[in-house]
This record gives sequence, C-alpha cells and structure tokens, in this order.
Amino acid sequence: MAFFIPEEKIFEIKNAADIVDIISESVLLKKSGRNYVGLCPFHSEKTPSFTVNYEKQIFYCFGCGAGGNVFAYLTKKEGFTFPEAVKYVAGKYGIDIPVEKISPEKHKEISEKDSIFSINKQAMDFFKGCLLNEDNGKKALEYLKKRKISDNTIRDYHLGYAPDGWNVLLNYFAKKNVLTSMLEKAGLIIRKNKSEGFYDRFRNRIIFPIFDVNSQVIGFGGRVMDDSLPKYLNSPETIVFNKSQSLYGLNMARSECRITETVFIVEGYFDLLSLHENGIINSVATLGTAISSEHVKILRAIVGKDGKIILVYDSDDAGIKAAQRSIEIFDKGFADARILVLPSGYDPDSYLVKFGQQAFKNAVLSAQGTVSFLINSAIKKYGLSVEGKIHIVSELKNTLSSIEDNVARALYIRELSEKINIDESALHERVRETLSGITLNKYINKSDSNTISDNPDVAGYDSENSIIENRQRGTRLERQIITMMLQFSEMVPEIIKRDLLSGFTDDILKSIGNAIIDQQTLPEPNLRDAIPVFDNNEKNSIVAFLSIKDEVWDNKSCLELIKQFEYIYKRNKDTSIKKIKQAEETNDEKLLLELLRAKQIQAKNKRNSSLKALGGKTIW
Ligand code: UTP
Ligand code: MN
Repeated sequence: MAFFIPEEKIFEIKNAADIVDIISESVLLKKSGRNYVGLCPFHSEKTPSFTVNYEKQIFYCFGCGAGGNVFAYLTKKEGFTFPEAVKYVAGKYGIDIPVEKISPEKHKEISEKDSIFSINKQAMDFFKGCLLNEDNGKKALEYLKKRKISDNTIRDYHLGYAPDGWNVLLNYFAKKNVLTSMLEKAGLIIRKNKSEGFYDRFRNRIIFPIFDVNSQVIGFGGRVMDDSLPKYLNSPETIVFNKSQSLYGLNMARSECRITETVFIVEGYFDLLSLHENGIINSVATLGTAISSEHVKILRAIVGKDGKIILVYDSDDAGIKAAQRSIEIFDKGFADARILVLPSGYDPDSYLVKFGQQAFKNAVLSAQGTVSFLINSAIKKYGLSVEGKIHIVSELKNTLSSIEDNVARALYIRELSEKINIDESALHERVRETLSGITLNKYINKSDSNTISDNPDVAGYDSENSIIENRQRGTRLERQIITMMLQFSEMVPEIIKRDLLSGFTDDILKSIGNAIIDQQTLPEPNLRDAIPVFDNNEKNSIVAFLSIKDEVWDNKSCLELIKQFEYIYKRNKDTSIKKIKQAEETNDEKLLLELLRAKQIQAKNKRNSSLKALGGKTIW
C-alpha cells in the first residue's frame, strides 16, 4: 500500500502514453496495415502474432492471448504492480503524480487500519505478559507444556493468555486512552446486549495471535483449557482480518514453502504448532473455515504453479468433503494437489505427538491426488458389485465433469474405467451428459455469478486451451455485442435501455459489458473510456481480442444485431428452460437428458432460421 493515484490522474497518464512507443522499448515492431506487429515477448514464436494498435492503444497476441493496455503490458513484461506501471509511464512523459492527494475516505481507512494493527500488537504484548508473569498465567503455561509446546514456540509464535475477567483488557486500554470504538472495531471487545458498555471477548483462554505475511497482528484465536465450549473462539472479521484470505502460520512458513515448493494445510492451531515444532515448517492452518480460492491464490504465488499442496485430514469423511469442495479450486491453481488422511482418531498434532515426525513423513508418501483419492474412497465405500459400480459412477460424475482441463479429465476417466473395469467411452458419455447439465445450470442460475469460475485469474491459467476458450466465450452474438460496445460506444445507451446484458449466458462477457456501461455512464465525461481495464488477465485478454478486430459499424447493422439477440434469447428463455429446470428439481434424469438433447437440436435449428429471417450475416 505504498501510494494512491487518483483516477483522473491515471486517465491523464494513459492518454499521454503511446503504447507503440513503450512497447518498442522491448519489442521490434513493424507496421502492418493499421497495426504494428512483432515477436511476442510473452511466449516464444518464430512468426509475429503480437499485435499493437495505435488508435485503440492496446496490444493483443494471437498466439498466447496476452492483451490489454499500456499498463497491462508493463505489469506483465516488467513485473510492475499497477501503481508502479502508472508511475513509470508518468515519469516517461513528465507527468507529476501528487503523492499526498489521497481521498479523505481512503485516508481514514488507512489510518483506521494502522490503529487496529497497533491495538492488536499492544493486545498481543499484554496477553504474552499475562502468560509469563501473572499468577494465573501459570495454569495456561502448564497447559501448553502438557500439549508439548516448547518455550521457543511460545516465544516465536507469541502465544499468550487472556486472564479470567470481563474487563481486564478494557481496563488495560482505558489506561492508555485507547477509544472503545477502536477496540470494538479490532474485535477485542463486545458490546453488551442489555446495558451500556462493553466486555472482553477473550477471557480465560490461551491466545494464538494471527499474523499476515508482513507479521502484523490481524486477529486472535483463543482456546479454553478444559472441556468448556466453545473450544476455540476467534476474532470476528475486521477491516484487517478476512478469514478466507488469512492462514495461521503463513508468516513463519512462507520461505520454507517457497524453497520446498510444497505446502501442507491443516485445520487447527495446535496441528500447525506441532508441525512447526517437528521441523515441518512449510505448513499453514485455515482458521475454522474451508479452504478458499483466495487461500489457493496466495499459496500458489508462493509455491509456484508446479508446486504441491497437501491437505491433511483426520478422517476419510472430512477428507472426502474437503476434496469434493476443493477440486474446482485446485484444478485451476495447482498441478499437484493431494489429500493425506491420517489413521482414524488422529489429527496431525496427536499423530506427531504419538508417532513422531518420521512416521508423519512416511505417511505423507502415501498421500493421493485429490481425484484419485475420491475414486479410491468411492470404491472403498461401495465395492465392485454391479450396484456398487453404478453408485461409484453416479457419485463421481460431478467431480469428473467439474475438471476443466480436458487432458486431466480424460486421464482420470481412464483411471476410473481401469479401476472399476467399465468401458471408458461409456464413462465419457456419462461425464459429457453431466457437463452439459452443468453448463445449462449456469445459464439457468444466472444470478449465481460469484463463483470460483468467475475468477479464473486465480491460476493465471494460460494454456492454449483457455486462450481458445476465451475467444469463444459465450455465444457468437454475445461476443458481437461486446465488440460493438467496445468499438461503437454510441450504442451503449441502447444496450442499457433494452437491458440486453441480462440475457447473456456468459458471466465474464456480461461483467465486461457491465464495466463498459459503468465506464460510459461516468458523471465525468472526460473520464469515459471505451476500453475498460480489469485487474484480471483473462478479462483484459478478451477485451483486447474483441477490440483489436477491425469492424465497421453503423446504426443500422447495430440495431439488427440487437434485434437478433433479443429474438433468440427471449424465445429460448421461457419454454424449454423452464421444463429443464423442473426436471432438475425433481431429479428426473431421464427426462432431463431428453430435454437437453431436444434443446440442443432446437437451438441449432432456431439459430439458422432466425439468421435467415433477419438476413443476419456472420461476422466471425
Ligand atoms: P478441532 O475441534 O479439530 O480441534 O478444531 P483441534 O484443532 O484438534 O484442537 P485441540 O487439539 O483439541 O486443541 C479444528 C480447528 O477448527 C477451529 C479452530 O481453528 C481449530 O483449531 N475451531 C474449532 C473453531 O474455530 N472453534 C471451535 O469451537 C472449534
Ligand atoms: Mn487436536
């Protein structure tokens, strides 16, 4: 969070920049028609497919799909952050960036975050003091000893003790004149329900401070020392503590994860401490939440795209649930994701305490890939009788169809077919059916847009497949409409008026469309820019690809396109899809399949005839 640049300034800098000029610093460009072309700096090639357009100030590589504006180029080429790229261009064109011009709201947010960090740090020091000095800290220290936590770990992980009492921490901060409103924002105190005032959140508990990667204290976990409930209490989410982005122990684990290109993920505070005590430092713990796509993004940046992630669970059931939930996240993020299930009754901590680190390391060798693990678990559960096999296939078809990588999916289908001795092509058929169901489901549940697939950037996934898929996102008409919005912004009000985007099947294209609308309807007309910029490579690539094509637009052809779109989508919307949804809800698989097939044929015919009826031409 080094500096902030006002929106207007970024716009000014972008307008001053010449993308041809800046790219020419690192790529030899040759004029070719209206574009400049050269050898792509992002992948190796012999014939130039890297294209730069001066008028639109964008680049796009037809070979690898990299694309965007001048800032996207610099972040990709030079490894700059976005503000660094802006600063670089500003410097080159002699534009001053007013460093102090942070908006008052932003300023408040930064200073509020800073005060919470500071309050958390003071609270941590207080709890540490209580563990080591206070009379009743003795009990806590004994508990930690009993759990085999060493003095070094207590020191290095800043463990502490929150004394028994309703306002011990409150009084401590009152003496320091810290506002209760800030303590509440830090999640350390709780407002009383019935009367005025507050009380301490953490009372009579062992305290585990939680750090971010910069070792700032973002929150706390607290454990009771007996069987009372809840066993663990965690800080609530605050402006500095987001559980789906935080991992306990990551500040200590980071460099070891980088070196070993491997990370273990466990569930508990003591599991994490035990692993670290036993020299397995490349491990982190989730904070009472399921592993999220944000966690994966953070870990992948550390262990690299060929790195290994190993989820450690204490029972088959927990492992199966986690594996099922995480397939989609891992599929995009990691080449190698495994599940390690410990013998029943043991979690990583109790396993290490009982059997030691060598035994744990041996167990790691048996960790299976997530999909293989699910296949083997299903076989174990259902057996290989005819009914068993039917159950196995029906349990695994969703998992298999959610694997996006075609090659990986085919390999797993082969693995399953060999293990249960069922014809591979029959399995393919089954998975394909599920796949078309899933795709349609996405269409039906259009509101459900905030899924993992909405954020494909998690992996910076850029295989050839995904480039082609990107270029063919949504339907041809949807792509044409976005292209029109990018290249002929006069039509944007018409798109808004007819609410065309709500008929889009593809969430990414839809969000690009919405961004164009936002951009075109800004109150400040000077800031209106036809080509939106995203903090997401995939979207930038699609936008660059659709903008760089040379199309000629006029009002008439645009309106024709809009009508064509409305015609097809409005008709499709009400009839067959309703039936399909019903069949899905009643789990009528046979009817569902029939309807899906009919729908495919119908859609094809309809499109052909409507194109003819409207005299529409194919643009690509
Ligand atoms: P477990 O119940 O498996 O406990 O919770 P554990 O980690 O083995 O704890 P010990 O060994 O008995 O001390 C796993 C994790 O789930 C979260 C905590 O992060 C805990 O470490 N949790 C559990 C809570 O947040 N609240 C709870 O009440 C229980
Ligand atoms: Mn435990």
